[in-house]
Amino acid sequence: MIRVEDLHRHFGGFRAVDGASLSIETGSITGLIGPNGAGKSTLFNVVAGVLPPTSGRVFMDDEEITGLPPHELFHRGLLRTFQLAHEFASMTVRENLMMVPGQQTGETIWSTWLRRGQIEREELELRKKADEVLEFLTIRHLAHERAGNLSGGQKKLLELGRTMMVDAKVVFLDEVGAGVNRTLLGTIGDAIVRLNKERGYTFCVIEHDMDFIAKLCDPVIVMAEGKVLATGASDEIMQNEAVIEAYLGTGLKNQVKAGTG
Ligand SMILES: Nc1ncnc2c1ncn2[C@@H]1O[C@H](COP(=O)(O)OP(=O)(O)OP(=O)(O)O)[C@@H](O)[C@H]1O
Ligand SMILES: [Mg+2]
Repeated sequence: MIRVEDLHRHFGGFRAVDGASLSIETGSITGLIGPNGAGKSTLFNVVAGVLPPTSGRVFMDDEEITGLPPHELFHRGLLRTFQLAHEFASMTVRENLMMVPGQQTGETIWSTWLRRGQIEREELELRKKADEVLEFLTIRHLAHERAGNLSGGQKKLLELGRTMMVDAKVVFLDEVGAGVNRTLLGTIGDAIVRLNKERGYTFCVIEHDMDFIAKLCDPVIVMAEGKVLATGASDEIMQNEAVIEAYLGTGLKNQVKAGTG
């Protein structure tokens, strides 16, 4: 579904993404892991049109999408969530869901006057959709809560919920599990699996929690220093020497091997 070819994104002289190539198969829940600073979020940002690449190409279903702006990708069904959730704090959870950009009329005074009925219908539709999403995520009871009052985990759920307000095809999740308690992490994981199985979403999931990755993702792609280091099933990945080395650092690994660590 997504193919990234020899992608580079440099910041000044620093190569955050340094020739990464990878594929995300349609229908998969692909994991993207790697040590801090490996370039995972930067790669997401380039694929999702938030940052232009320094060089390299991105394809969606064999069509080139390199450098397309986020709203364009959004219409093609490519969505991302951010490592830090950004909700509209003073609005309710349901209102936040209803804020997802779409084909809403009602922007100008004229259309407000002329098409009042249509606007009301659209609102009603949106509200219905938002309630379905809340139901799906098992947070119906939070509909009227101000988003700013949610816990970190609930905010992540809300982010996931926003991807459900449109017909997403492929969703990029940047650390949906970070700072989330076990129960809520389970809810998020279940929602991802259900969206994948029942609605055909393809996912690419960045996460540091290896249990979460192992439970959800196949395959898992490992990045280090801006490059793809390995791709495979999670159990293979965790036994891969190069991967262990990237995580532990050579010095520590040698200590472990020598039995002194
Ligand atoms: N806008 C920027 N300007 C300069 N350097 C940046 C910028 N964005 C990211 N970097 C650097 O690029 C490298 C990769 O960052 P990135 O956020 O992609 O890593 P990551 O794999 O997502 O790490 P983490 O797991 O900690 O989220 C880091 O060294 C970071 O400091
Ligand atoms: Mg990151």
